[in-house]
Amino acid sequence: MIFADGGRAIPAPAATFIPRPDLAGDLIMTLRSIPTKPLAQAIPARGGVGLKAEHYKTILETAPNIGFFEVHAENYMGDGGPPHRYLTKIRSRYPLSLHGVGLSIGADRPLDRDHLSRLRNLINRYQPGLFSEHLAWSTHDAGFFNDLLPVPYTAETLARVVEHIDQVQDTIGCQMLLENPTTYLAFSDSTYSEIDFIAEVARRTGCGLLLDINNVYVASVNQQWNSERYIDDYPLAHVQEIHLAGYAPEADEKGRPLLIDTHDRPVDEIVWRLFEHAIERLGPVPTLIEWDAKVPAWSELVAEAGRAEAIMFAVGRKDQRYAAIG
Ligand SMILES: [Fe+2]
Repeated sequence: MIFADGGRAIPAPAATFIPRPDLAGDLIMTLRSIPTKPLAQAIPARGGVGLKAEHYKTILETAPNIGFFEVHAENYMGDGGPPHRYLTKIRSRYPLSLHGVGLSIGADRPLDRDHLSRLRNLINRYQPGLFSEHLAWSTHDAGFFNDLLPVPYTAETLARVVEHIDQVQDTIGCQMLLENPTTYLAFSDSTYSEIDFIAEVARRTGCGLLLDINNVYVASVNQQWNSERYIDDYPLAHVQEIHLAGYAPEADEKGRPLLIDTHDRPVDEIVWRLFEHAIERLGPVPTLIEWDAKVPAWSELVAEAGRAEAIMFAVGRKDQRYAAIG
């Protein structure tokens, strides 16, 4: 594997706000015009949090005002037990999105049919408002890796990813969202930029996109490109969910900054500013706080989701003032 410089031609950022007609105004429900059938219930354009076992009882006892919960599909692929008992109760009270980490959509081998069938059963059982997976691979031959590994952006990979997403959407009978990866290097044999690759996947499959803004920032530092311009160039019309998370600042063997996507701490201030930048272009979008390790107290997690909502509300108010003046 050879490292490339990660550079790409980036046009100047858009000078004007790009309104989304379906999201004009205040915090409203999102249900976009999409080419394939959406999942059963729309997720509100509010802050949501990852559902953790540590918080099951608090949620049921205190009925917090939270926009939605997201769960990792692979944590609920068994048939019964306490996780399903709690999730059933919580699902009856809150919107739910489902996030997969194990399909290995970028792998150079067929998708695991048993895994796909378990996924379809889970979607039928809980009727989530959104289902998302990563642009990554984690399987090779008989092996399974815990990491979500990047793919080279070539015509060959594009055809494979498109075929796999078609298969997923055919199996679950609904549209899925594809999440932009965290990257630590670029492949020298890539012939597409990451954005062009993702846009082409969305165009060919009709899938939606999940924009992980922490992934954008982590990759931008690791590969020395401009994160705001990445957001400006991204195919935002396809974005139906945002992820925010914390990262760990490290350094490589030469002492250069190296950020690791750890999901184990609060969202960094610079990622919050990038989120505001994205919301100015997108309008309000269901926004998840991903906090998967060193899980904090419930109050801290809720405060992060509240901050995301406050930013979306403030941007919406600002736009309304501009519209009134204009
Ligand atoms: Fe994410």
